[in-house]
Amino acid sequence: MKTERPTRVILDTDPGVDDALALLLALYSPELEVVGVTTVCGNVPVEQATRNLFRVLKLAGTPQNLLIGQGASRPLSEPLQTATHVHGADGLGELDRLRNEDGSLSYPNVEVPAELPPAQEVWAQCHQRYPEDLTLITLGPLTNLARALDSNPDIIRKFRNVISMGGAVAVPGNVTAAAEFNIFVDPHAAQQVFASGLPMTLVPLDVTTQVVLNRERILALAAQHANPAIQFLRDATGHALNFSEKVEGQAILPLHDPLAVGVAIDPTLVDLTPLHVQVETEGRLTKGMTLADRRTIRESLKPSSNLKAALSVDAPRFLTLFQDRLCRK
Ligand code: BDR
Ligand code: CA
Repeated sequence: MKTERPTRVILDTDPGVDDALALLLALYSPELEVVGVTTVCGNVPVEQATRNLFRVLKLAGTPQNLLIGQGASRPLSEPLQTATHVHGADGLGELDRLRNEDGSLSYPNVEVPAELPPAQEVWAQCHQRYPEDLTLITLGPLTNLARALDSNPDIIRKFRNVISMGGAVAVPGNVTAAAEFNIFVDPHAAQQVFASGLPMTLVPLDVTTQVVLNRERILALAAQHANPAIQFLRDATGHALNFSEKVEGQAILPLHDPLAVGVAIDPTLVDLTPLHVQVETEGRLTKGMTLADRRTIRESLKPSSNLKAALSVDAPRFLTLFQDRLCRK
């Protein structure tokens, strides 16, 4: 019987509660080999994103030979807008404040190296180790990728596939009526990446809002499983659930970033539609909007597609995969 080699992936991330869950899913999935992780500013400033990455690695165990880098501290041409109102002041649901019964910290501080290489350097090293065999999964704003297109285009062109959580094709945004967070934070970077000709798979809100856990489900899982990953799921998500209850009227957690990892694990979880998508970088009301050409005109009259977007998902199958992987650890 032929055994398939795991897909080698680099994760570019701004942890963030759902980023942390996406990292756990990737690290716990035998279909993937995580060879590099880089951070970017987004949900939190990049230094905090890096601290959070090391917290997740401490919990999950760091794969041998993993290369780690720290990327952009600000978007290409916008001031950074974080999402700490959703993810908590530390980006991980204010885990750093949780205490055990004896008063000790439930999640003690983690050691972070004083210096880390820039994201582009880590990606170049990964390509040296594994030439022409890498998938990049982006879970935050596309700043690192846009910068690398300028500084290391040859390296970036070697990615076999780029899977990006971001955008909203036929649904409303989640930061504004028009824009999804990852694109909104750095619309110029996103437009540069979309126009670059890279082989892109977009995992937008259209599908990520279909894969949700509610508070009851998370508490039920935590009651059944005492393992660190599920306890982390409970501890890190309380802040985001309270936020969604206040704003949307229901305590739910969309698994945005985990679904992007899910697509790398099993591409059949989603249906992909080729589309021509551009990013609005200027609009007073629409900045960060992903504008897909969905007109029902002759194909020959349409601009050719620049990416494939996931527009439908087998949500029950993904949710089962996600919970199984976290529960087993
Ligand atoms: C995206 O925004 C961030 O807050 C999440 O981590 C996810 O990457 C969803 O819009
Ligand atoms: Ca993210």
